[in-house]
Amino acid sequence: MRPRVTLKLATSLDGRIATAAGESQWITGETARAEGHRLRASHDAILIGVGTAIADDPLLTVRQPGLEDRQPVRIVMDSRQRLDPGSKLVRSAHESPVIVVTVQLPSPALIRAGVEVLQVHAGRDGRVSLNHALTALRAKGVVSLLVEGGGDVAASFLRGDVVDRIEWFRAPILLGSEGRPGVGSLAAEELGQARRFRRLAAEPCGDDLWERYERL
Ligand SMILES: NC(=O)c1ccc[n+]([C@@H]2O[C@H](COP(=O)([O-])OP(=O)(O)OC[C@H]3O[C@@H](n4cnc5c(N)ncnc54)[C@H](OP(=O)(O)O)[C@@H]3O)[C@@H](O)[C@H]2O)c1
Repeated sequence: MRPRVTLKLATSLDGRIATAAGESQWITGETARAEGHRLRASHDAILIGVGTAIADDPLLTVRQPGLEDRQPVRIVMDSRQRLDPGSKLVRSAHESPVIVVTVQLPSPALIRAGVEVLQVHAGRDGRVSLNHALTALRAKGVVSLLVEGGGDVAASFLRGDVVDRIEWFRAPILLGSEGRPGVGSLAAEELGQARRFRRLAAEPCGDDLWERYERL
């Protein structure tokens, strides 16, 4: 058993999540960000890769008036526990739960800071095995999971065919091929191997476009 997985993307029109220098805050506008907070509040947990944790030092809390009491568990996929003990996530772990999913023995510094370290098997690439991570998170009571990127983690979930929904906020700017892709390599050489989704809705969201998809 695994959680129900929603992938949330906030990208440029051409599917980029950050500039080449890593600048990503904020590509989408205020209305889309408010919807992002509502999405967070409606899931049991939010998950990011350690690349995003290092680049953006996010807090990953719900900061929408009226929803502050709906704080999902915050999860970082971090095979080698590179998460900085001084990061906002770690420093806030005593107030709101943080889980680091790793393939190593738990780091004492993270444990002392109140982070729960979940050790799972490595996949063939030596990184956290997605299937083991999802099974372990479901066993911990995570029924709905919001994956917030970055591109490497988004691609892993798509390659693993475990994305049930996509919530895609697309801003009317173009970042070009220098920008960081919202979805990394999918290793799909032929159209027949491509992941396909059914569009459920597409609506304006401030200056951005909000597209919603479900797996076929
Ligand atoms: N526009 C937005 O809203 C938005 C949202 C999120 C991110 N971003 C941007 O995205 C960039 C970071 O994206 P990224 O692609 O470099 O990093 P990422 O996807 O956030 O993290 C990738 C890292 O996660 C770890 N990981 C562990 N298990 C994994 C698995 N099974 N599959 C994939 N990764 C796994 C790997 O590090 P280990 O091998 O060390 O475990 C990997 O290098 C930043 O520039 C950030 O600003 C933008």
